[in-house]
Amino acid sequence: MSAAPDREPIGVIGTGYVGLVTAAGFAALGSDVYCVDIDEEKIRGLEAGRMPIWEPGLEELIAEHRERLHFSTELGPALERARLLFVAVGTPPTYSGDADLSAVHAVVDAMPASGRHALVMKSTVPVGTGESIERALAEHGKGFGYVACPEFLKEGAAVRDFMNPDRVVIGDGGGWAGDAVEALYAPLDAPIVRTDVKSAEMVKLASNAFLATKISFINEIANVCEETGADVVEVARGMGLDDRIGPKFLQAGIGFGGSCFPKDVTALKQLAGNSGYHFQLLNAVIEVNELQKRRVISKLQKHLGSLVGKEIALLGLAFKPNTDDMREASSLVLSSRLQGAGARVRAYDPVAEDEARKLISGVTFASSAAEAIDGADAIVLVTEWPEFRDLDLADAARSMRGSLLVDGRNFIDPDAARGAGLVYEAIGRPSRDGAG
Ligand code: UGA
Repeated sequence: MSAAPDREPIGVIGTGYVGLVTAAGFAALGSDVYCVDIDEEKIRGLEAGRMPIWEPGLEELIAEHRERLHFSTELGPALERARLLFVAVGTPPTYSGDADLSAVHAVVDAMPASGRHALVMKSTVPVGTGESIERALAEHGKGFGYVACPEFLKEGAAVRDFMNPDRVVIGDGGGWAGDAVEALYAPLDAPIVRTDVKSAEMVKLASNAFLATKISFINEIANVCEETGADVVEVARGMGLDDRIGPKFLQAGIGFGGSCFPKDVTALKQLAGNSGYHFQLLNAVIEVNELQKRRVISKLQKHLGSLVGKEIALLGLAFKPNTDDMREASSLVLSSRLQGAGARVRAYDPVAEDEARKLISGVTFASSAAEAIDGADAIVLVTEWPEFRDLDLADAARSMRGSLLVDGRNFIDPDAARGAGLVYEAIGRPSRDGAG
């Protein structure tokens, strides 16, 4: 794709996953991008070429288009040079399950009166947020336009997702800003959904909730497969060929995590509840996911009996491969449950150790998979990092004290594992080593 010169400059407020990828992506498409963040250290680091997050391809993209990327803790340069200000600040869950909109409100409050700017909301917000922001902006005579433009990128594939979106959703109430956002995305040649602000907000929440539902559904099918002797991998393959179902997001495992699904499913459930509607299905989606993380414990106990004093090696800690993100990772619940049951936990993750150290206590960190496995009673594969595909299973079997491998992501070839002398347990696949 050739970068078009002289494209509309933009501001991006918030330099997290969404903000940085949006900034780098639009810079690659030819825009000057004025990035703003309140975190001085982050901005200083970005100016010096240091990435605050680990995301494949992002550092290279930023370096390649560095001359079009401007970083500041001040809003001034963005307001001066750009009409469109993309908002990509965090909206973490509160104790009630509602989204915490304080960072969004801080951005809105910081806006000066202006007849020529518009806010473009990338952050995931509850339905109705845009309406109340527009009202607040109007009441304070700020004259800002407003566009809801939710982001659908996946961590670990964020740059590719920016460049090849399945769709771009643009919600607005008419006016110049929606058209300007559409023009910015035009070079990507993606289907554009122009709609109203509330519907755009709902597309985002409903999409994440649907994907999470798909995962909890296949996880329950996996659990029934374990009871009945069917193989969930075969079942998913057969189901996925139906066009109406599709093959994606049918991988059974130890549950979904990350900064989005757990938060957005709860936020949608809460949003419905606050409006007087009881969203029953989402309750089940959340509960199934919680139970799924814990099922590994009973698999371990089935083979090892009591876990007191047992050495358990966790391979992978991040909530999925190709990211160092530990938010809501299944490994967090798993490592504390294991320690609660008296086991000693050692863990190895190729990238997420630093993030994991901030959240996990009592775990010994190993610097390689082999080191974690050495002397262990059991291995649990938690995150399907590609390097675990190349594990020397025979070596692993020799160096362990026990011989159990619980594959939480159905990632390892069962025959290869068994051929190497390991007792192999997966999720929703028949076990040939004893009951289940
Ligand atoms: C998700 C959505 O996929 C993005 O479209 C959305 O933009 C993003 O949330 C967001 O709202 O910001 P992400 O959380 O980065 O993206 O990760 P996914 O690749 O969707 O995986 C989420 C979790 O589901 C992971 O823990 C993964 O292991 C799990 N998963 C995924 C399964 O257990 N089975 C599957 O078949 C697929």
